[in-house]
Formats: sequence, C-alpha cells, structure tokens
Amino acid sequence: MSEPPGLDGGLTNYGDRDFARYLRRSMARSMGISNELLARPVVGIAISPSGFNNCHRTMPELTEAVARGVLAAGGLPRTFPTISLGEVFLNPTSMVFRNLMSMDVEEMIRAQPMDAVVLIGGCDKTVPAQLMGAASADRPAIQVVTGPMMTGRHKGERLGACTDCRRFWAKFRAGEVDRAEIDQVEGRLAVTAGTCAVMGTASTMACITEALGMSLPGTAAIPAVDAQRLVAAEESGKAAVRLARNPIRPSEIITERSVENAFRLLMSLGGSTNAILHLTAVAGRRGIRIPFARLNEISDETPVLVDLKPVGDGYMEDFHAAGGVGAVLRELQPLLHPDCVGVDGRTLSERLSEPLPWVDRRVVRPFGDPIAKEGGLIVLSGSLAPDGAIFKRAAATPALFETEGRAVVFENLEDLSLRIDDPNLDVVRNDILVLKNAGPHGAGMPEAGYLPIPAKLARAGVKDMVRISDARMSGTAYGTIVLHTAPEAAVGGPLAAVRSGDRIRLSVARKRIDLLVDEGEIQRRLAEWVAPPKPKRGYGMLYRNTVTQAPLGCDLDFLAGDGSK
Ligand code: FES
Repeated sequence: MSEPPGLDGGLTNYGDRDFARYLRRSMARSMGISNELLARPVVGIAISPSGFNNCHRTMPELTEAVARGVLAAGGLPRTFPTISLGEVFLNPTSMVFRNLMSMDVEEMIRAQPMDAVVLIGGCDKTVPAQLMGAASADRPAIQVVTGPMMTGRHKGERLGACTDCRRFWAKFRAGEVDRAEIDQVEGRLAVTAGTCAVMGTASTMACITEALGMSLPGTAAIPAVDAQRLVAAEESGKAAVRLARNPIRPSEIITERSVENAFRLLMSLGGSTNAILHLTAVAGRRGIRIPFARLNEISDETPVLVDLKPVGDGYMEDFHAAGGVGAVLRELQPLLHPDCVGVDGRTLSERLSEPLPWVDRRVVRPFGDPIAKEGGLIVLSGSLAPDGAIFKRAAATPALFETEGRAVVFENLEDLSLRIDDPNLDVVRNDILVLKNAGPHGAGMPEAGYLPIPAKLARAGVKDMVRISDARMSGTAYGTIVLHTAPEAAVGGPLAAVRSGDRIRLSVARKRIDLLVDEGEIQRRLAEWVAPPKPKRGYGMLYRNTVTQAPLGCDLDFLAGDGSK
C-alpha cells in the first residue's frame, strides 16, 4: 500500500514543484520536527478554542489527546485554528456566522497539506459548520465533539443549561422567583466545561453526527469532563490515520440514506428544531435534499424514545449512562438503512451488531413503549407558510394542537421587546403571537421564536400560547411554537401580510398553518410591502445577497452542491 502524500500534498505554487517541496520541508523543519515524522501521513486537527466560547474550554486537552492518537498510529498531527462560534457571545446571532465558519473550515482543509482531518467542536453552530466544510472539501474527516456539561444543583434539584435557564426565567417573569434567587440560579446552570446539558442543538448535532457515521460510535454523549471523552479523542486520532491510509471520504459517508438515518434519529430524540436546518445544509453540500413530505413520513413512523429535557426529564449525563446514541439506533434498527458506512469503515449494521451491555429504559425507551408514538418534529404548510414551517410537537402543549385564534403581531424584534410586557397590550390567553422579520434575511434568524408570554398573562398563570415566526428557537426551549416560516417576512412571504386581529388556524393533525384572510386581500397587502435595506459591504452583504431560506438550510447559495469546484 502506498503512503498518502503527507506534507507533499497540495504544494504551494511557485512554478517549480521541487523548490516548493524543498522550501516547505525547510520551514517544517524549523518547527523542530524530525525527518522521520515529516515523512508520515499528515492529520490536520481543526481547533476552535476561544475566550468567547465556554463550550470549547476543554479544547487544549482534547487536542492533545487527538494528537496522541495520531502519533500512536503513525501519523503526524498538525493543529490549525478556525474561527469559533460561542452561541451566546455573538451579535446579532451565531447563525449568521455558521456559513462563514464553514467556508473557513473548507478552505483550510483544502489549502493545507493534510491526508485526513479531525474536527473538534461542540457549541451549536460549530459542529454543523465543521461538517459543512468537511463535506465540501471532501477529504477524509472525523468529528470529535467537546461533549455536554454535567448538571448543577439548586435547592435539591438538578439544573442544566439551558432548559432550566428558561424555566427559571419564566418563573422570574411571573413573579414566582425573586431577584436574589435568579442571581443564585445564574451561577448554578452551567457549572462545568462542555456544551448545554440537555438535548439542545449542540447535543442533537453531536448525536446526528454519530448517526451519520462522521464520528466514532458511542462518542456523542460522553460528558465533557469524563475521562472517556479524552479516550474518544485519542481513538479518533488513531482512526484518522487509518482514514489517511485507506480514505473514506465524507461523500461516501454523507449519503441520502445516512441523512435519512440521521433525520430518523432526530425524530426519536425529540431533538432540536435547529438540527433540521443544519442537517439540511450539511446534506445540501453533497447535493442531497430530503423533501419535507419525506421528513413528515419519517416523523410519523418514528416514535420519540429518549426522555431528556426539553421534551422529557433527563440530562445528557443520564443519556450517556443509559447507553447513548447506540441504544437508540438499536431500537430504530428495523427502520434504518443498514448499509451506510462510517468513519471506522464499518456499516451501520456491523456497528449495531455489537452487543450493548445495558440500557437504562427510564431514559431510552424500547420501540414498543415510546414516550410518544410519533416523531418530535413535523413540517407544517399552508397559506401562512407555502414553503413550510417547523413545529416541535414533542415539546408543545397538546391542548393547543388544534387552535384558531386572533393574531397579535409584532413587526420585528425591537417592536417585540418594546411592547410584549406593556400592560396595555391587547392580548388574551387564546390569541396567537406573531413575530415578523426575524428570518434569515430579516435578522439573521436569531433564536427569538420562543416569544415570551406577555407579562400580564404570565402573572395570570398562562404557561403556553401558540407563537409563530420566521425565527429559530433554541434547542433547549419548549412550547407550542411554529418556526422557520418560509418564505420569511423580509422577502415578502405571506407572514409579511399578517395584521393584528387577523385569524390564524394551526392544525397539527393536518400539518397546516393558515392565515384566514382572503387571498386577494393578502395579495393587496403584499403589493404595499417594502423590502428592508441590505448591508452594503463585507460579509454582511455577502450573507444577505446569497443566504437561502430555511427549507434549503440557510446556506449561502453558492456553497451548496456536490462539492466539486
Ligand atoms: Fe454552547 Fe449551549 S452555549 S452549546
């Protein structure tokens, strides 16, 4: 077997290949690396540490563990930085920068001499960006996630970011928790390194990555501070050297069949709505598109099996101890495509044929005794969302599944924050709250779809209302919430035409969301609609001119495709 090109791969263009090789080796030797190691297969390690990313705090020790594995298996590890996206430290929202990070990852994998790459990330947008970049670069790649946080304690109960953040904030808004207690809770929600402790977006994406086959089996849910996480990193380093010598490319792993498997896992996790966007964007990088009708089919066939917040009770530490992704995939096995290959070179059925010693059935239910018979997420369509909207039925209030109500409209995020708690706001408990202009073009699609219950209703004990927007929602949030409405208001979708007082009907049974206004009147209103201004320079301009709508994953339109340049 011939060795991969290693450091001689992708030489710098001087018009003299031998000179380029000689110069590169000279500079590499200046890093104090022996000739013996310089002759080895090169494994890049894409790292994203940042003082603005708490979820990546363990990056140094993970990097060391991956490098140890690469060296042990006979490769040469080379770390390289990319940008880092700390979810709560970015304005206007991390979603705007996911595509930018994916470009960074793709171009640095392509431009630098590596035979395989290990991608280390964790926070919400990081893993999608790394997978998108790797899918486009199509060089052998393996994902290592930073892993979830452990829970904190408060007055005898466990707390985990960020479902409990929202639960306590809602209590504070309703006057059930005072300032002193909310300050105390603030310090008890996120007490270790790692990603949010529930089945939010980061955890969902970690699980999806394992189901896709882009990370080693059994690694998605290991807590960030568990020693096994370092072992997983070391094993991933070794696996990357095997991939360098016997390449299996992302294009062989991310296929229509593995993407369907990943969507099926998403449904059974009751996972984050954001994962639909991210998985769509990752698949889009390989030219794969799963139609919404197929997504609904998968959802209707797939039970929710995992009892974790925000849908259930447990935390990621419980999921790991219960058997993790492997336990769920074994339950779903009759519904999965068995022939999908993973980074370890085995098919899914080969991976799942290994016995799993024990499964905690309180956390991972058997197929025949699910938490819910149908999957956690569905796609709605109708006159308010001709191109679709997402609804997380697993985290919603069943009593609100068939609702017709009066719209209370907020024109944009600023309008929402100015008026939502106004004591004079004309709103009652069975109204439907509508937020416009928070989609990918309107505001970068922030996680603003979890509109707060108006203060006067919250104080009166209202816990949930139907809420509709073109925004996203945190994977850790819950409620009867319609998201990702497409086309969005800022491109003149029907959402732009809604006015306070209009009637809206949500039917989960029929998977519909309709604006009960005469079509002619909707068109008259839209004829008066004026497009919002666009940024005139920089990444903001590129983003606004090319970002796609939610059904295409909000990627930049020129990045989608089969990855060929
Ligand atoms: Fe990074 Fe929640 S803030 S995963």
